[in-house]
Amino acid sequence: MAVITKKVKGTEDILPRDSYKWQFVEDVMKKEAECFGFKEIRTPVFEHTMLFNRGVGETTDVVQKEMYTFDTKGGESITLRPEGTAGAARAYLEHALHNDGLPIKAYYLLTCYRYEKAQAGRQREFHQFGMETYGAADPRADAEMICAANSVFDRLGVENIKLELNSIGCKNCRKNYTAALKAYFEGYKDQLCDTCLSRLDRNPMRILDCKSEICSGIAKNAPTVLEYICEDCSGHFDMVKSYLDAAGVEYTVNPTIVRGLDYYTRTVFEFVTDSIGAQGTVCGGGRYDGLIEELGGQPTPSLGFAMGLERLLMVMDAQGIEIPKPNTCDLYIAPLGEEAAKKAFVLVKSLRESSLIAETDIIGRALKPQMKYANKIGAKYSMVVGGDDLAANKAVVKKMDTHEQFEVPLDDGFIDKFLEIYISQSHKSVADAFAGEQ
Ligand code: HAM
Repeated sequence: MAVITKKVKGTEDILPRDSYKWQFVEDVMKKEAECFGFKEIRTPVFEHTMLFNRGVGETTDVVQKEMYTFDTKGGESITLRPEGTAGAARAYLEHALHNDGLPIKAYYLLTCYRYEKAQAGRQREFHQFGMETYGAADPRADAEMICAANSVFDRLGVENIKLELNSIGCKNCRKNYTAALKAYFEGYKDQLCDTCLSRLDRNPMRILDCKSEICSGIAKNAPTVLEYICEDCSGHFDMVKSYLDAAGVEYTVNPTIVRGLDYYTRTVFEFVTDSIGAQGTVCGGGRYDGLIEELGGQPTPSLGFAMGLERLLMVMDAQGIEIPKPNTCDLYIAPLGEEAAKKAFVLVKSLRESSLIAETDIIGRALKPQMKYANKIGAKYSMVVGGDDLAANKAVVKKMDTHEQFEVPLDDGFIDKFLEIYISQSHKSVADAFAGEQ
């Protein structure tokens, strides 16, 4: 197949026949975020490369291996966002959002770009839903954030998803832990990959998320961070857990979770499932108390999470969770002849003005293929308009599932009459369904 008709490796199309699934999930996410008091933030697809180098961290896999970075014609280095946190933090600073009153709570739905090995659940362009809170050091903020992610899964009916929790401590705890890790990995210097060798001096914690088999095998027995966190961090972590307990959110503490991005401090968490194979982490997040300062702002304790929409939809599919099909057409008007086509054109216009979904022929088909099309798009009602109907100034609306017929005028009374039929029939089908359940 010619290259121009093939999508780039690691990207996916979301087709008209499937987009309702995405819209359904996105609507649930937006509503849930809004229930928790979050407002939407939209940031650009690309940012200055420095933002991610500084924010995500020079020694992370994302920055070292996975960024889509290019020079513009003006000679600036630009990177397609590999995640949403750094861009949102940049916007928080640039627009002095703290003036709007802390805490600032923002959510986003966006595409991300990472040059990773493409496989099921791992793409080079993917979608994230994320939430971020700025200006909240209290453990209640951590518990609220985790509850928000958990509620999205609950609302969507996702099961068999485990919350794994850890604390990676503050800058101070990190010093001791880094020293312990360094001492441990020094013993395996001859086996580590080149990237991890360079991390040994600069940031040994990043060796823990190396994807190479040998490095990850060595990392399995490395010291874990919980043994090194200070009293303050440990107290903070205990409070997070106690709030989760109070809210009835189940979790397991997994001391091996350190997350692959450099900005994290204290609480980190992941929601993991075994329903979709190797890429089972559907959501990840945590606290990043140092990031805003790292980017040049005042110390601003912050935290957040992001979940991957592709992985989430895979889980829902694997678990047989049905996403309701939306209504796609209330009335299809099939005209016969030029004069009827004009009438139909005007009638669908007024139906649409009444917020109904209406369609008529726009490609000049005969009646039979028009009705076939009306069936295919799932029209609830259809109406054929021919010369005789125009002359009589009335036509017949047919309910597609029951074949019941209703006469309607074709003049100004059309909309009112159609709405009357539509509403009474909807009530009737709700009542029938209810009676059926009794
Ligand atoms: P992350 O763990 O890198 O965290 O990504 C979050 C989620 O995005 C993952 O759990 C996964 O579902 C999805 N994801 C990541 N990479 C891919 C990929 N290549 N293909 C498909 N899905 C993917 C972050 O991005 C942080 N910014 C989360 C955060 C927000 N932390 C604090 N605030």
